[in-house]
Amino acid sequence: MEPFTTQSLLIYFFSGTGNARHVAQWFGDAAIDRGINTEIIDITSIDRRHIPPPPRGTLIGLISPTHGFNYPPVMMYFIFRFPRSRGNHVFLMNTRAGLKLSKWFVPGLSGLALWLSAIVLLLKGYRITGMRSIDLPSNWISFHPGVKEKVVESIYARCKRITKAYASKILDGKTVLTAFRDIIQDLLVSPISIGYFFVGRFILAKSFYANELCDKCDLCINNCPMKAILTVDNRPFWSYRCESCMRCMNSCPKRAIETSHGYITGIMFLLNMGILVWLWSLAGKIILIPEDKGWWQVLFTIIRWILTFITMVISYRIFHYLLRIPGVRQFFYYTSLTRYKFWRRYKPSRKMVK
Ligand SMILES: Cc1cc2nc3c(=O)[nH]c(=O)nc-3n(C[C@H](O)[C@H](O)[C@H](O)COP(=O)(O)O)c2cc1C
Repeated sequence: MEPFTTQSLLIYFFSGTGNARHVAQWFGDAAIDRGINTEIIDITSIDRRHIPPPPRGTLIGLISPTHGFNYPPVMMYFIFRFPRSRGNHVFLMNTRAGLKLSKWFVPGLSGLALWLSAIVLLLKGYRITGMRSIDLPSNWISFHPGVKEKVVESIYARCKRITKAYASKILDGKTVLTAFRDIIQDLLVSPISIGYFFVGRFILAKSFYANELCDKCDLCINNCPMKAILTVDNRPFWSYRCESCMRCMNSCPKRAIETSHGYITGIMFLLNMGILVWLWSLAGKIILIPEDKGWWQVLFTIIRWILTFITMVISYRIFHYLLRIPGVRQFFYYTSLTRYKFWRRYKPSRKMVK
């Protein structure tokens, strides 16, 4: 294959807490150093319903975090709407939850993130020249305390080197599809990405609340990339536009945003018990269950997902309302692991910007 000469570069990125933004910046800087005309665009700052067709021959880059073993929906919808190729090459990158255990760097898991996007872009006529994951620290602090600053700096330094070296190959016109290394594990976790897309992400979006330290500064509301946080009852309220990107929780200067583990555990327990019991008794009463129960299980799973979604909508509103009552508020406050001091917030590297 003839190497492709890059004359201009256009990078579109989405980033919750800054990891993907840094990767876009490092890649862009490598191009600028070569005198390539470069533009880097945050997809949440533009009209995503009317994306301009890519200039003829421009190399396109798409960079985003991984959410639930896929690109977050905002990036997926962007790719679905992306105009057809005009002789363009494209490279895809995702940032993942990298860890460092002792001296060892442990990678995250991409699932469908790069594969689904690549298929869509191939169908639109693009030539894929790059697919690579970058294992920056995990920002998913609903699940684990934020990574320590020293570890963040060390992971960042490594990822910056990797990104620059990768950019150099892509800008030389080479095709480097590093993601093929991970294809088996990606396909193995892909069913989870479907569950996350239809259910998981909505539950996560509904686990946030503002505690008593919230001074209504509205920083979370103004900085939310999805404009998903509203004010309800004079307090922040997370709508379903939320991508659970963690920007609000990680950047609140008062540490006032929490994940309510108490509420999520309680509602999941009730849902699983209640819905399962009801469905099976209903099925047993009115329908003869056929020998092959395969399709029943599919149907039940879909009904469970729908009921879970409806219950979440109603219960989150009730939860938000109940937070007015001091005793209830205290209960949820103490059952939120994120309130404890050891549960650090995540901050991307301060030193590795350039
Ligand atoms: C809701 C959510 C889901 C995530 N899912 C995954 C995942 O499936 N695989 C993975 O490796 N990392 C996952 N992560 C970690 C992020 O992809 C990772 O920290 C990324 O670098 C964050 O980039 P950002 O700072 O640009 O938002 C997830 C993070 C969040 C908040």
